[in-house]
Amino acid sequence: MPHEFVPGLEGVPIAESAISFVDGLKGVLEYRGIRIENLAEHSTYEETAHLLLKGDLPDQAALGSLIHELANHRRLESQIIDLLKCLPEYGHPMDALQAAIAALGMFHPARDVTKDAENHLSCIRLIAKLPSIVSAFERFRNGAEILSPREDLGHTANFLYTLTGVEPNHVSVKALDVCLILHADHTMNASTFSGRVTGSTLADPYTVVSSAVGTLSGPLHGGANEQVLDMLREIGSVQNAETYIENKMANKDRIMGFGHRVYKTKDPRAIILRRLADEMTEEHGSTELYEIALRVDEIVTERLGEKGIFANVDFYSGIVYDALGIRSDAFTPIFAMGRVAGWLAHWLEQLIDNRIFRPTQIYAGEHDIPYRPAEQRGGKSS
Ligand code: ACO
Repeated sequence: MPHEFVPGLEGVPIAESAISFVDGLKGVLEYRGIRIENLAEHSTYEETAHLLLKGDLPDQAALGSLIHELANHRRLESQIIDLLKCLPEYGHPMDALQAAIAALGMFHPARDVTKDAENHLSCIRLIAKLPSIVSAFERFRNGAEILSPREDLGHTANFLYTLTGVEPNHVSVKALDVCLILHADHTMNASTFSGRVTGSTLADPYTVVSSAVGTLSGPLHGGANEQVLDMLREIGSVQNAETYIENKMANKDRIMGFGHRVYKTKDPRAIILRRLADEMTEEHGSTELYEIALRVDEIVTERLGEKGIFANVDFYSGIVYDALGIRSDAFTPIFAMGRVAGWLAHWLEQLIDNRIFRPTQIYAGEHDIPYRPAEQRGGKSS
């Protein structure tokens, strides 16, 4: 039995998976064998979710039925809306999302994970309802009325409509749809692993997704996109960028939105997102924030590129969301809206040949310490 400790499980395979593929040296990402660039250009989030969950792109009938099913399950239960209203409006939207997803499982018990039809329905509910939860909490904390989804709008358009109250234009819908596609899966990242560990206990899919949401929230994972915008705002102007980055590097601080465990070249998602950010600024006019981002990218690439540190998916996604008028602490919930299809595809794959995750450890403590009553203690923890 191997007993070598590998911090962060770097390079340790924890599953055989046919869902997505990354070549971190060539900068390639594929979903079920299809390059991410093709999906971003030609596909939609609904199609991509089908691809991840079912293994291939849907034909017209399958796509029509998926769109119909999602529309039928988008609306939130009134008790979930009440629950969101009970949460503090100053709380983080990722916590609200995680709480609401866990609660959804009480309305739609799905503890028997052996039935394919039930599992399919859970996937539809989760994909359809995550955006409704995100927009409902956003409107609640802004003091606005919570809106019902519209039958005539698709997945991404509905989210933007229920978020803003305005029917979104084609450019905004396409931009956000591309972001959701780019975030939909990414091999064995921390939140997917977390979901698979939870799934391996045969927990229900709402618990699987809520545990993955919790893992995604950390600043070293999905939470980085929010911190990128905070950093750009803190830099304040293009002229300050160089000194700011130099100070960070001198203090050995992490520069948010840069670096990746797998990519040692440019993250292909960051390349597409940068192009998207370019297009959006062409459409709406460039912003100071975007100019600062370009300068930071240039400086970090110059200084850290030879170490294989480049902008990752979180660096430019925030710029796109910001251009769509979305508040920075809602960025990671949007990441979750995209990634939910990947989490669920991994959950289904895990169930095919499941064995509970139960790794080991290398014990580094002591043995045979005698028990002493409290009055005789005075050791290191007292
Ligand atoms: N800024 C500065 N230096 C960095 C950065 C960064 N963002 N990322 C890695 N490095 C450096 C480390 O200091 C280390 O240098 P050293 O070898 O001289 O000590 C080297 O690169 C390797 O770093 P590790 O921590 O071993 O890399 P790891 O694979 O464990 O971490 C991670 C990957 C967490 C993404 C890291 O690059 C990071 O913290 N980035 C910033 C946060 C971020 O953007 N996260 C989002 C990632 S994408 C996603 O999860 C969706």
